[in-house]
Amino acid sequence: TKAQAWSALFSEPMSDLVKRYTSSVFFDKRLWQADIMGSLAHAEMLAAQGIISAEDHASIQKGMAQITSEIEAGGFDWKLDLEDVHLNIEARLTQLVGDAGKRLHTGRSRNDQVATDVRLWLRGEIDVISGLLVELQKSLVETAERHIEVILPGFTHLQVAQPVSFGHHLLAYVEMFKRDAERMADVRRRVNVLPLGAAALAGTTYPLDRERVARTLGMEGVCQNSLDAVSDRDFAIEFTAAASLCMVHISRFSEELILWMSQNFGFIRIADRFTTGSSIMPQKKNPDVPELARGKTGRVVGHLMGLITLMKGQPLAYNKDNQEDKEPLFDTVDTLKDTLRIFSEMVGGQLNPATGVKEGGIGVNADAMERAALKGYATATDLADYLVKKGLPFRDAHETVAHAVKAAISEGVDLSELPLATLQGFHPQIEQDVFECLSLRGSLNARNTLGGTAPAQVRAQLARHQARLA
Ligand code: ARG
Repeated sequence: TKAQAWSALFSEPMSDLVKRYTSSVFFDKRLWQADIMGSLAHAEMLAAQGIISAEDHASIQKGMAQITSEIEAGGFDWKLDLEDVHLNIEARLTQLVGDAGKRLHTGRSRNDQVATDVRLWLRGEIDVISGLLVELQKSLVETAERHIEVILPGFTHLQVAQPVSFGHHLLAYVEMFKRDAERMADVRRRVNVLPLGAAALAGTTYPLDRERVARTLGMEGVCQNSLDAVSDRDFAIEFTAAASLCMVHISRFSEELILWMSQNFGFIRIADRFTTGSSIMPQKKNPDVPELARGKTGRVVGHLMGLITLMKGQPLAYNKDNQEDKEPLFDTVDTLKDTLRIFSEMVGGQLNPATGVKEGGIGVNADAMERAALKGYATATDLADYLVKKGLPFRDAHETVAHAVKAAISEGVDLSELPLATLQGFHPQIEQDVFECLSLRGSLNARNTLGGTAPAQVRAQLARHQARLA
């Protein structure tokens, strides 16, 4: 039996090593649904254009239905000898329906076929990822809503800076994941374009109706240049770039979760099922999930580097190099999906079907956060602003407050614990009402500009997100 689609020309068989080296079936078989979908759309068009007969079209449909159930049942015999998903399915089709199967590839090449398959598959995965990004945003929004009034020390340079609402802090991530979702939607528009009809590289001599195939497949258009259609993978690179950014956002959040749950912060707890113990230290509960997410970010960014490097030296048009697009792309999708799923649950908890309430999300130790915020003179800027309102130029106020902070540090107290008389020593216009502005809550409430951390602003942000995500 003929082992390869082109074997007549060849005087010797491939060695086993070369077969294993060049074959992709054991990873690209996951494209099978896209491959069948693309083939069916192509066959339907071939029949409509009178390139194949209606009977052949019917046989192809029947054969593909059979192959679908074989694959779904796990009974399909994937053969390394047949190199990839495309040749495996086509060979089986021909086995099942004879010549009609051999006619399927009319006006088509594996070059436009594989580009189509990857696009169709990726389109579906982008839709899943977009849904998961909505879920994660919802989890963050729900958690933020419960913690608008909880005060967290906001950091710059990891030094206590100004108090912020914990809800506000979480909503910062919602903004990031919102942009990630927008990027996914944007990438999808360029993924969802049809290469089929480009054939090997130059187009084909048959009167194909490419637009018809695009419509059947729900694609937004056809690739306008056959050489470009079969050879570029910029859509995959773009997707991986968007995925990398999303993982970077997850990674920054992970870093914060890890810090916050260390004993020295003690700000939060995450559910035990996202942590592991130590084989030697009985007291340990380690934040393995956020740590792994931070680690897996490196892996996805690595895939981006891999894909972009894969492309850089390739002359037009198709080159076998492009077979190497699949494993990084598949792994990027798998890693991102798992990470998003796990974070939605870790942040927002899991729905208890008995009560209809989500349980086991992030647990917050509001006292520890507040105590930490009280440690770092987080309201010093508020005192400077207070003096500005009394007429001092900001730079002078800044200097005056620096003296006050220095004195408070040497006393080992917070600014709000200095007696009024001491404060007045720094500036005579300081009055009793200063203590309101030196309090964490006063500081928070005062930051009432659009996008600021005042609870009123955070509520407005929340409402905007809730409406958008509903
Ligand atoms: N398995 C190949 C890939 O992933 C399919 C296209 C191969 N085309 C070719 N002429 N060798 O890119």
